[in-house]
Amino acid sequence: MPTPTLPDGDVVTLPRARSHSPLARAWWRDAVIYQVYVRSFRDTDGDGVGDLAGVREQLHHVRQLGADGVWLNPFYVSPQHDHGYDIADHCAVDPVYGDLAEFDRLVTDCRLLGLKLVLDVVPNHCSSEHPWFRKALANGPGSPERARFHFADGRGEAGELPPNNWRAMFGGPAWSRVTEADGRPGQWYLHLFTPEQPDFNWRNPDVAAHFEEVLRFWLDRGVDGFRIDVAAGLFKHPELPDSADPDVDERTRDSVNPLAWNQPEVHGIWRRWRAICEEYTARDGHQRLLVGEASVPTPAEQALYVRPDELHQAFFFHLLHAPWDLAHFHRVIDDAVRDIAATGSTVTWVLNNHDQVRTVSRFAGEDPASGPARAAAAALLMLALPGAAYIYQGEELGLPEVLDLPDGLITDPIFRRTGSRTGIRDGCRIPLPWSGTEAPYGFSPHGSPTAPWLPQPASFAAHTAERQRSDAGSVYHLYRTALQLRRELPQLGEGTLRWLETPPGVLAFVRGEGLVCAVNFGDTPAPAPVAGPPLLSSGPCGEGVLPPATAAWWIGPTAAERI
Ligand code: BGC
Repeated sequence: MPTPTLPDGDVVTLPRARSHSPLARAWWRDAVIYQVYVRSFRDTDGDGVGDLAGVREQLHHVRQLGADGVWLNPFYVSPQHDHGYDIADHCAVDPVYGDLAEFDRLVTDCRLLGLKLVLDVVPNHCSSEHPWFRKALANGPGSPERARFHFADGRGEAGELPPNNWRAMFGGPAWSRVTEADGRPGQWYLHLFTPEQPDFNWRNPDVAAHFEEVLRFWLDRGVDGFRIDVAAGLFKHPELPDSADPDVDERTRDSVNPLAWNQPEVHGIWRRWRAICEEYTARDGHQRLLVGEASVPTPAEQALYVRPDELHQAFFFHLLHAPWDLAHFHRVIDDAVRDIAATGSTVTWVLNNHDQVRTVSRFAGEDPASGPARAAAAALLMLALPGAAYIYQGEELGLPEVLDLPDGLITDPIFRRTGSRTGIRDGCRIPLPWSGTEAPYGFSPHGSPTAPWLPQPASFAAHTAERQRSDAGSVYHLYRTALQLRRELPQLGEGTLRWLETPPGVLAFVRGEGLVCAVNFGDTPAPAPVAGPPLLSSGPCGEGVLPPATAAWWIGPTAAERI
């Protein structure tokens, strides 16, 4: 295959050759996947919303960065009550994002650039406009169509109370009441997110059969894997009993109800999906990936999802929720490496995604000025850890969370359902700044009639991809160099991690033979663990000293080993 040349003249380094032998190390075990939130990536038709053509247009950015593949957030037909996580047709592209022909061209482009393509699959719920749910409403209580969802009669004299006391993730009760065909208030249906996202009943065989068809539809089109939304969901306690949690009414966003999440039956589904992936691998030797969003309380419980015949990976969210705190980082890394390694899988690290406050703002605490340095240090730490990593679009540009969107512009259903700004996600989904000095910063074509679906702040001018590419000291170049070293150095990616004894405030470990990573979580400079200049550092870093809020990589013996 000829070496592809990218638009700005950069020549692509093709990924490390990986054998198709089943005995070879699987590509996903230490892959770095770049998450594309399609809606906010690049808009080619000027409607203010990103699209698949935009993903194609900027795919070279991902390739130049050095990622192994992309994961696309949902682009399927959807009324967009939860920006695509409310799906009305799992096998069609929403016209706002393009069509299947454009999707097929994207598959081809990914192949040419050597990028894996991972799609989002959302099996816990669908849209209230999905044909199955419409039929369930039309066909009434007791119908086979209602049995595909959780419909139940209400409590109280006239059924006016929800069937149980569960709360929804996005606020309010987890049940909504329908109006039956005769115009009277009728049954209730379960939705762990918004009322526009009815939960499927996975004890009904139609549901499992439908999703097997969905997987095959996209696998046949050439995708390399799936990110599974809410992978600890799907099954609920069969009797849907009340939660005994005394705080249940206080909790507006219930993500911990053990009757609604993490039921043992879900593992049978992941075994079945894994078998489907293996079936495709048996045909061509190429491994397909299942990566689950399995938010469960402990790494030990998470390990159950990545047993050898279940999901390949599950996002390790404990760093996504970690404060800027050495002890916290140390503990969760230690737990993850131990518990996940015992399954034979690798840890799937993630610091940012489309649901969380960006690290630049999250790690800043009381002092906004500290955020960028801490976020860059955390990134270098993550990319030195054993296993796979996911990078969320804009992370490589050092984007901060946009925290001051006026109420009237907030689109997140969490805001609508809770009336609170806590946990709203628009601020990490602002359209990307590609170029130029004013909005839309190359997100939409110049002179587009419609503004980007969320406004970009003036501060984005300093973060455009164009500007960062020409600045060797930018966050973009830090990520790019780190990813290049991951490809070149055998110590990085999969392998061992050994903690080092460090001065207070410093976390340090050795990877394989002699790659040392250290992070200074403290506020004062600390002695570096290795003499000589670092191979790479997240900020200015001379010899012998590790400045505050800085991470660095060295090759060489540690001070202790030299003695
Ligand atoms: C996705 C969210 C989505 C929710 C409901 C998740 O966890 O990441 O963005 O709103 O599932 O589908």
